Amino acid sequence: MKRLLLLTALVTFATYSQADARIKVKGRGDKMNFDPESISVEFRPSFDLMTRKCVKCHTMERTVIAIQTGRAPITGQPFDKQAVKAYGIKMLRKPNSEMNKPEIRELVLLMNYLLEENKK
Ligand code: HEC
Repeated sequence: MKRLLLLTALVTFATYSQADARIKVKGRGDKMNFDPESISVEFRPSFDLMTRKCVKCHTMERTVIAIQTGRAPITGQPFDKQAVKAYGIKMLRKPNSEMNKPEIRELVLLMNYLLEENKK
């Protein structure tokens, strides 16, 4: 009986989280971006930061594709948590990225959250 309850709870939970799973995407090409509506409120400020900082050298399309597909579009490398961290450090080292350590950390956390949401 206990098992059945647990199973029911799990199934219910899975269906619930399915309902708001996956971060939605709006627009195409250069205008492609995550739909802010589908991003949890606590991550909105980080998302604002991303839309200001990560469009300096390329559009958001690159980031969206990497997160949605789990593959980095330029190098074809898997884009997972480890890659996100490595990429953050790489950005930090680029002299003209205009991002500091706390900002990079915030954006890495945001990307981990986005990856996590897309797995649901
Ligand atoms: C200083 C310019 C610059 C800024 C700022 C920048 N990028 Fe990039 N980005 C690049 C360049 C150049 C590439 C091409 C490959 C490389 O050098 O890694 C790239 C590639 C990428 C890729 C594809 C990586 C691959 O291996 O295919 C992703 C994803 C990405 N950027 C996301 C971001 C995110 C997220 C931010 C904000 C945290 C950001 N970029 C900020 C210059 C920049």
